[in-house]
Amino acid sequence: MCGIVGYIGSKPVVPILLDGLAKLEYRGYDSAGIAVLTETGIEVEKSVGKLAVLAEKLAHHAPQGTLGIGHTRWATHGRPSDINSHPHTDCAEKFAVVHNGIIENFQKLKEWLAANGHTFRSETDTEVLPHLVEHFYQGDLLAAVREVVKHIEGSYALGIICQDEPDKIVAVRKDSPLVVGLGQGENFIASDIPAILSHTRDTYILNDGEMVLLTANEVKVFDQQGQEINKEVFRVHWDVEAAEKGGYPHFMLKEIHEQPKALRDTLSGRLATDNSRVLLEELQMTPEEVKQIKKIFITACGTAYHAGIVGKYVIEDLARIPVEVDIASEFRYRNPIIDQDTLVVVISQSGETADTLAALREAKNRGARVLAVTNVVGSSVAREANWVIYTWAGPEIAVASTKAYTTQLVVMYLLGLYLAQQRGTLTQEQIREVVTALRELPAQVEAILGREEEIKGFVQKYAHCEDVFFLGRSIDYAVAMEGSLKLKEISYIHAEAYAAGELKHGTLALIVEGILVLALATQMDVFDKMVSNIKEVKARDASVVGITFEGEEELAKSVDEVIYIPRTHKLTSAVLTVVPLQLIAYYVAVARGCDVDKPRNLAKSVTVE
Ligand code: AGP
Repeated sequence: MCGIVGYIGSKPVVPILLDGLAKLEYRGYDSAGIAVLTETGIEVEKSVGKLAVLAEKLAHHAPQGTLGIGHTRWATHGRPSDINSHPHTDCAEKFAVVHNGIIENFQKLKEWLAANGHTFRSETDTEVLPHLVEHFYQGDLLAAVREVVKHIEGSYALGIICQDEPDKIVAVRKDSPLVVGLGQGENFIASDIPAILSHTRDTYILNDGEMVLLTANEVKVFDQQGQEINKEVFRVHWDVEAAEKGGYPHFMLKEIHEQPKALRDTLSGRLATDNSRVLLEELQMTPEEVKQIKKIFITACGTAYHAGIVGKYVIEDLARIPVEVDIASEFRYRNPIIDQDTLVVVISQSGETADTLAALREAKNRGARVLAVTNVVGSSVAREANWVIYTWAGPEIAVASTKAYTTQLVVMYLLGLYLAQQRGTLTQEQIREVVTALRELPAQVEAILGREEEIKGFVQKYAHCEDVFFLGRSIDYAVAMEGSLKLKEISYIHAEAYAAGELKHGTLALIVEGILVLALATQMDVFDKMVSNIKEVKARDASVVGITFEGEEELAKSVDEVIYIPRTHKLTSAVLTVVPLQLIAYYVAVARGCDVDKPRNLAKSVTVE
């Protein structure tokens, strides 16, 4: 996810671009840049790092002009660096482009352009765009961009300017958001409304395939066939803060709702179209290297550690390799038994968690090979590991991790299947079963989110509880741990997760009237045993909310409420069971008046020990 902004009018453009980018920084913040049309041509200023770094640079030298485009980056193709930052330009630096999205066929286009004499400076997919514009340009920017979009595949929101047409911005979108801001003698483009809201409340929300030609006094919108269309003006009534959250009251809720898209992005290009196998090109392990793995250690902190526990169930089941999971702050100091036949998997959303990074270094010192699973391109763990699998969840702002967790789970399935394929531990049919289940997950999460009102409704009854227990067996137990962490970190309720069969060995003594139990019952091989455990807590007067698959109507007889989730493979159930738990934690915290996005004592990224 990146943010783009553009302005054409009569005011100095640099402060307007910087202000717009600041409102879009939530979409990405590893580098930023602007391109301004000045009297002498297009001037580009860009730098790696937060927007503040660029602002500092511009404080000393700001290009003068009243037309420009800007970009704040969340790296996908090419690590964060000055060169890879947007805007990108063509060979003659006559065109500048900002891009949000991914050009999937960039490699082929790049080779073709290079063969036609174009020289590339960056490692990005985006750079093919200004070169394509340069290639097709015959004195009409709009016509050239029309030609370009015929040749590109993938997702994009683009802002494009041309030195020879100093009164125009051309913009177009497909599968990435883009809005136009309508002003008086000035017009704007942006990835999101907050970037333009201090200038205008009148907007066009562009649909896929629509292209816009902006001048200072006019905005023309064209459909995919190039026909000019009449767009309805959308008047924004939200304030800036609400708009940044896309109308959601909190980032956490927004990110819970972003999960279907995040899961699709994580799976994108990684499943064979006929569901016969997973493709993890970034791993590049030889079959010999895979066979050499005698043991896997997964190490991480907090939510990422919980994803690792699911990973243990998944990898052991699919690839039949022993997996040990360790909290990173323990792993680094406990003299773990590791050698060159050990694969250490570190999981970290931020890629900067101090304990996880130290665990990675410890593992490497002991001769292990390290695979990083992270959301942030170019983060420390990504740079220091031997291999990286990115989760592609997009920036996660809320302290309570949601979409990072479910995308980490998806990577655990992909990894388990990849290892299984290489080691031949599964039949073709077994692989197909899990791959098919993975493909269905985004739509199934959407279906669960459709039950939000139902969950919100009954949660109010339990918001006063001071002790909550999360019970499950097998993978449900691993998800119970994450549910419990979610609830305690944002609602400050004491919560614990237990393997349901373990309760009777001590903790059952705490179960009395007024206690809430969340019982996860999706593992059909132990379903009856789980029901028996539920009956044990019911007999002690606890209130019980159960989660199970649609069609398992029996559970309703033993619990106070049931949340039904779509049926899936026993391993992939974790991605679905956690969603109601996220919503329960969220609505309980809201009911208790807690500051959901900024829970007390916590920080998003823990870069100290
Ligand atoms: C959970 O909601 C937290 N945000 C926290 O446990 C987090 O998962 C942990 O600090 C690890 O962070 P990382 O994934 O960025 O390494």
